[in-house]
Amino acid sequence: MYIKWFVLLAVVARDCSSQDEDGPYRGKYIGKLNSYHHQVSGDVYAIDEWTLILVNFNYDGTGDDTFFWAGDAGRPGPQGFIVPDEHGKTNILERYYNQDVRLTLPEGKRISRIKWLAIYDIGSQNAFGDVYVPDEFEAPAPRTIGPLVGERAVSSETVQVADASTIIIPEFKYDGSGEEVYFWTGVGPQPSSRGIKIPDDYGYLEPLRAYKGEDVRLTLPGGRTVFDIKWISVYDVGTQRSLAAVLVPDALNVPPAPLALHPYRTNLPHCKQLHRDYQVSWEKFGNQITIELAAKIDANEYMGFGISGSDSKSQMLGADVAIAHYDPKMQRGLATDYNITAIAPCVQVLGQWRGVCRDDLLGGLDSNQVFSGEVQDGLTRISYRRVLKPFEELDREWLVDKPAYIVWSIGSLDHAGEPAFHRLHHVRDVALNLDQNPPVNDCFNFTVGSSTAPTPWEVAELFDPSLRVFTFRLGPAGGARGVAGRGKGGAPALAWYVNGQLAPDLQLRRGLKYSFKVYGGNNPHSATEYHPLIVTASAHGGLERLSDAEQRAVRVLAGVHYPRRGRIAPTAAGPLCIGRHPAGADRRRDDDYATFRAFNRTLQWDCANAAPAELLVAPNSSWPDIVYYNSFTHSGMGGRIFVVDRHRRNIAKRPASSTTYTAPLAISILATLAAMAAVALRR
Ligand SMILES: *[C@@H]1O[C@H](CO)[C@@H](O)[C@H](O)[C@H]1NC(C)=O
Ligand SMILES: *[C@@H]1O[C@H](CO)[C@@H](O)[C@H](O)[C@H]1NC(C)=O
Ligand SMILES: *[C@@H]1O[C@H](CO)[C@@H](O)[C@H](O)[C@H]1NC(C)=O
Ligand SMILES: *[C@@H]1O[C@H](CO)[C@@H](O)[C@H](O)[C@H]1NC(C)=O
Repeated sequence: MYIKWFVLLAVVARDCSSQDEDGPYRGKYIGKLNSYHHQVSGDVYAIDEWTLILVNFNYDGTGDDTFFWAGDAGRPGPQGFIVPDEHGKTNILERYYNQDVRLTLPEGKRISRIKWLAIYDIGSQNAFGDVYVPDEFEAPAPRTIGPLVGERAVSSETVQVADASTIIIPEFKYDGSGEEVYFWTGVGPQPSSRGIKIPDDYGYLEPLRAYKGEDVRLTLPGGRTVFDIKWISVYDVGTQRSLAAVLVPDALNVPPAPLALHPYRTNLPHCKQLHRDYQVSWEKFGNQITIELAAKIDANEYMGFGISGSDSKSQMLGADVAIAHYDPKMQRGLATDYNITAIAPCVQVLGQWRGVCRDDLLGGLDSNQVFSGEVQDGLTRISYRRVLKPFEELDREWLVDKPAYIVWSIGSLDHAGEPAFHRLHHVRDVALNLDQNPPVNDCFNFTVGSSTAPTPWEVAELFDPSLRVFTFRLGPAGGARGVAGRGKGGAPALAWYVNGQLAPDLQLRRGLKYSFKVYGGNNPHSATEYHPLIVTASAHGGLERLSDAEQRAVRVLAGVHYPRRGRIAPTAAGPLCIGRHPAGADRRRDDDYATFRAFNRTLQWDCANAAPAELLVAPNSSWPDIVYYNSFTHSGMGGRIFVVDRHRRNIAKRPASSTTYTAPLAISILATLAAMAAVALRR
């Protein structure tokens, strides 16, 4: 009797936590492999209805005809089916030594309907090890936990826990009026100020915007799971009031999150989490400050961080920033000093450099001394030192006696290694107390494994043989789905809109004459909105910032005039016609639009009432098969022109195209790897 009770209790305890007490959460426990031969051992968990994980799996690999083998009834025997190995293959099993092996059942099979899984030798009809799926076994699955309940200003449909770290709030509504309202979570019987922020659906830690009935997907920060929290709230930190909340039941039978903790921890005492994927840490020492930037960025991306251009708010204009990244060729980190005089790439405006320009280009010095830099598991880390009170005018002073406003951003480097338009950046003001005692540290651990790049919008093709007139206007380049999603590296803020399409491919026939009507803006004093159109044999454009010699090395097929000496001059700018985000729109949300057509509908057009400049384009036999239209001032705003002798329909679909988008594949591989590896924190 006594023993029976003990066993029962043990089973119940195991059932509640769905796992052994001290590992990461792996899903619902099925059992330990019974070991008969060939040193088979390990623990088996269900991740969901179709997926199993064998933890610390061992097998000596010496069976002749051995497979993962499962059956719907009875005991392990010839009646069964092969379960493909962790690579999805049905090869004879090799040796495993303390491995975590993730298996997916064949199509049509479910864990709750199978009776057993074995390591089984088909030739000798011999089970080397097996585990039985308990009767009435319920596999982990997304669970609903009820709607957000509270004030009328906040509402949602039933909240879903998709996996141990992912919460989905369907039809979320909130008017965005609170100054300090966040997604918030913690322990204790009800929401309280002793909680932590959950980054919003874009990974931002800033006060919530207005939501008008959107499905919001949140990931708990730092590898936390639903087992670590008791409630999720929309919480006003200023007034310490929960606007609405939902309680999280214990022991939810949900799939583990496909996340693993990143080992990075800063050694510096102060740390500020700027975004889910970006943190800055620092230490002041006399008149110097050591700064360490760490972010989950792609190989061709930079981290921008620096002192605001204003003493009373976070402002890019006038800011003094470091543009930090890891250079794989030089195998070292860089943190280059930049001066921001316009929100534009660095260009010469009437002989003066304006935009995001290197201090050394402006005749200043690079004041940052880089200590170290590395990239590890998708996380880039750069540390550098600078003086607080600058020696030169270009640099702004870092205040320590009061909060210092800072600016931050993440974006791509363009083909020339210069910062292109940012994809992430501060929206609200961020002020840091650089010398606070005790130090501030609100950083959480980075995780690896879950990020999904949105699918880029299709590139339009203007291939109709009867088209002889093309109209070039300006508009936003459109976030990760837009020009940046075409895999060419950094995208600028603006792009060409040709006949209403975002930087489409064109097709022109040699021997014909075409008219390009250009509305690129003809104010050469503007660092941001002066875009003469050019056609070049090289992909990038942006000739303005090149040296005279570099400029003359670019083959320009249309759009410039070559004076006998000095710099080449553009010829076709035209009045400005530009599509802009409507007032108050958040350009970080460009990715929300599934198609360019839908995005385009939101733009507001601002067009001068004047005739366009006309650029006559006459491709001839000396033109290469692919040329590019671009801006004379900024790089990366344009698209391809296929130059043909006879019109062709499928010309853009050739495999050699450089526009293939590979990120989602890489990310899904990463996610799979991370899911196979140890899963995050559960303690
Ligand atoms: C650098 O930026 C500051 C504004 O912070 C500006 O006053 C200064 O003129 C800039 N330097 C140059 C050389 O453009
Ligand atoms: C980060 O992870 C480490 C190791 O698992 C843990 O000790 C630490 O408490 C975590 N930090 C935070 C802020 O969650
Ligand atoms: C984008 O909007 C402009 C102006 O409303 C329109 O002329 C154009 O056809 C639109 N483009 C697409 C692809 O819908
Ligand atoms: C071919 O086009 C180029 C560039 O537009 C031009 O400079 C050249 O004179 C043209 N050649 C002929 C034979 O027309």
